[in-house]
Amino acid sequence: MRITVRALAALALLAAIAAPARAAEEPVLNLYSARHYQTDEALYENFTKATGIRINRIEAGDEQLVERLKNEGAASPADVLLIVDAARLWQAQQLGLFQPVKSAVLDERIPEKYRDPAGHWFGFSYRARVIVYNKAMADRADAATYDALAGPKNKGKVCSRSGSHPYNLSLIASQIAHLGEAKAEAWAKGVVGNMARMPKGGDTDQIKAVAAGECALALTNSYYYARLMRSTQPADREVVAKTALVFPDQDSFGTHVNISGAGMLKNAPHRENARRFLEYLASNDAQRYFADGNNEWPVVAAVAVANPALDALGKFKVDPLPIAAFGKFTAEAQKVADRTGWR
Ligand SMILES: [Fe+2]
Repeated sequence: MRITVRALAALALLAAIAAPARAAEEPVLNLYSARHYQTDEALYENFTKATGIRINRIEAGDEQLVERLKNEGAASPADVLLIVDAARLWQAQQLGLFQPVKSAVLDERIPEKYRDPAGHWFGFSYRARVIVYNKAMADRADAATYDALAGPKNKGKVCSRSGSHPYNLSLIASQIAHLGEAKAEAWAKGVVGNMARMPKGGDTDQIKAVAAGECALALTNSYYYARLMRSTQPADREVVAKTALVFPDQDSFGTHVNISGAGMLKNAPHRENARRFLEYLASNDAQRYFADGNNEWPVVAAVAVANPALDALGKFKVDPLPIAAFGKFTAEAQKVADRTGWR
């Protein structure tokens, strides 16, 4: 009997020595994602093929996912949260949803500008906040800067979605980072004063309103316009034919860009798998799928995306301001939006 126990103990010891240093996680990753593009299937399948780690996905809107994580608390099964825009990543970070990830791969592949310095979140693709104008109603010069949207020449000509939307909050936040809060507020006030109508709808609605002549200029994220450029629908083709896109501030700060990003969740049950997934998203193949799926640019500079719309738009000067450097002004930006009536 004693020998058997000893033998069992010896076997257990041998097994412990033979096992990897860290207890192996079950090969599962639970992903909460605000993305939902067709090309994502291949993106996730390739990860499973390469690692044997199965991905369970919950796809919902950014706000719903954050709300769900708040409710689930420490019992959350989620490992990784994938959402868009610095304003939302900042909010999730403030809520304590993320835990920092240390990864030489991510630090090396993702430019500092596109990740949280402490590793709470990493950007994997970027998009630009651009100005689209009606070619019969405005000139390229009228849309050359964000400041022009607030200028006297564009009185009654500007369309925008709500200033409280994360895309505009981040733009306002970047203005605060560059100019200080007082000047940023004067700018926002000028934009609101130039509006052709009350803010309503999403970015694509603004582009369509510009094409329809309801306004001469509008702010939009670049991928909405690229999507219309790639559309075969006659109505979309007409919208593109009547309009043009400008990357603002090419002679000063550069165009404001934002990210699609992800971070490891604080209560992630599968931390090792989560780290591997984040590193996978920075790989060449994943970068291509990830960026192209939503007509965005990959953050890894060496990766080229063969996207006819992005090729047609060409290269532009990106505002070098780090995402984290304006993300921290999100709360101030909301106050500016409220005070200036950019509803
Ligand atoms: Fe969007």
